[in-house]
Amino acid sequence: PAANIGVVGLAVMGSNLARNLASREGNTVAVYNRSRSKTDELVAEHPEAEFVPAFSYEEFAASLQKPRTAIIMVKAGGPTDAVIDSLMDVFEPGDIIIDGGNSLFTDTIRREKAVRERGFNFVGMGVSGGEEGALLGPSLMPGGPDEAWVTLGPILRSIAAVAEGEPCVTHVGHDGAGHFVKMVHNGIEYADMQLIAEAYDLIRRGTGKSPAEIADVFAEWNRGELESYLIEITAEVLRQTDAATGQPLVDVVVDEAGAKGTGAWTVQTALDLGVPVSGIAEATFARSLSSHREQRDVSGGLPGPAEDAFTVADADAFIEQVRLALYASKIVAYSQGFDEIRAGAAQYGWTIDLGAISRIWRGGCIIRAQFLNRIADAYAAEPELPVLLTAPYFVEALGRAQDAWRDIVATAAAAGIPSPAFSSSLAYYDGLRARRLPAALIQGQRDFFGAHTYKRIDKPGTFHTLWSADRTEVEAEDTH
Ligand code: 6PG
Repeated sequence: PAANIGVVGLAVMGSNLARNLASREGNTVAVYNRSRSKTDELVAEHPEAEFVPAFSYEEFAASLQKPRTAIIMVKAGGPTDAVIDSLMDVFEPGDIIIDGGNSLFTDTIRREKAVRERGFNFVGMGVSGGEEGALLGPSLMPGGPDEAWVTLGPILRSIAAVAEGEPCVTHVGHDGAGHFVKMVHNGIEYADMQLIAEAYDLIRRGTGKSPAEIADVFAEWNRGELESYLIEITAEVLRQTDAATGQPLVDVVVDEAGAKGTGAWTVQTALDLGVPVSGIAEATFARSLSSHREQRDVSGGLPGPAEDAFTVADADAFIEQVRLALYASKIVAYSQGFDEIRAGAAQYGWTIDLGAISRIWRGGCIIRAQFLNRIADAYAAEPELPVLLTAPYFVEALGRAQDAWRDIVATAAAAGIPSPAFSSSLAYYDGLRARRLPAALIQGQRDFFGAHTYKRIDKPGTFHTLWSADRTEVEAEDTH
């Protein structure tokens, strides 16, 4: 057999990944798609690529060297399960089946177990970078057995993006670890995008600058500590003029944000793990709020500051404050995201090197940024760091930013401009800092209505106040 790797599913992501694979020295790529036309098209349009087209699963299996290695690039959910079953029918024990879709990590855990029980290797792999990343170099987050990594590692290293000389791929951990990390990547992506959107909104409403002028602001920011793909493309989007109307494109696009679900998964999972990813949650909810047109339509008349009443005296100073608020909130969002990965690893028994995750996100993926180097440094200095934002570099940055951050959140509130991600990030930060939290009062309330008990600061044990009797305190069984 001629091929050392195969791709099943030749929609845009699949065919771009197949082309990327074929473009690397030493790879010959078997390709298969359910409908024949996609396969024919791909092969016809790319005569330069070493493809081995297959038109049945049997042919596909026959064209692959052993251990057969195939990447599935089809819709997450039922279609992925169907392809896995078809591959197991024609593959042999020891072969490697990789799911490169945006699968829910619990599905990956289930699939890995089922596939392993039949003697195959299963790898759930997060792929980030969109269509262009798939073609030119994505960030790859594979999870699965060590045995599969031996064959797969060199192939994936050859196609991944390269950041500072290192390929953006690492063996994340076992079974669902890769898809878990990809899920959190997307949650952070949501937070990053929302923070940028809030910054744009504040600048536009506070300074009256046009989208094209604000594009210059973002382009400028992209030369400093905020340097990142999302800041860069924000400038491009803001600069775009609509051909039909001559208006800025951003003014003719309907202001209802879509979502395919990975942000919601990140938040749902964080709730289950008890990890406060408030920035990611606010970003996800902000998309939901934007899409409820029927609710927004009946709410326009609610009392509040007039839309056009807000102007700042010194535009440049204000923009710098917004930049600092964005940077501080971004630190919070990443800190929360890494907290979720840490908690997920503990819950599911994965060994995940957080420093390695920050390094493979430096290139190829949607959240790629200079900033990831600072996270890598933080984990290199202290691998077990309990809260990322307490690393010295971030403490310094937050110290520098916090006055501006507070001003911006206060200004936004006073002006009636929604800034859910900026303000929730600040609340999280102050919650972490607080020596005493009003959680003590919540414990009192819980004990009052449900005898849920509390602990005391001055002695061990669990206590309950006899609220409906003489209100003396008794020792109690711990009921949390
Ligand atoms: C990536 C992206 C990619 C995709 C998501 C976002 O890492 O390449 O995150 O996976 O764009 O599906 O989707 P939504 O914004 O539609 O939820």
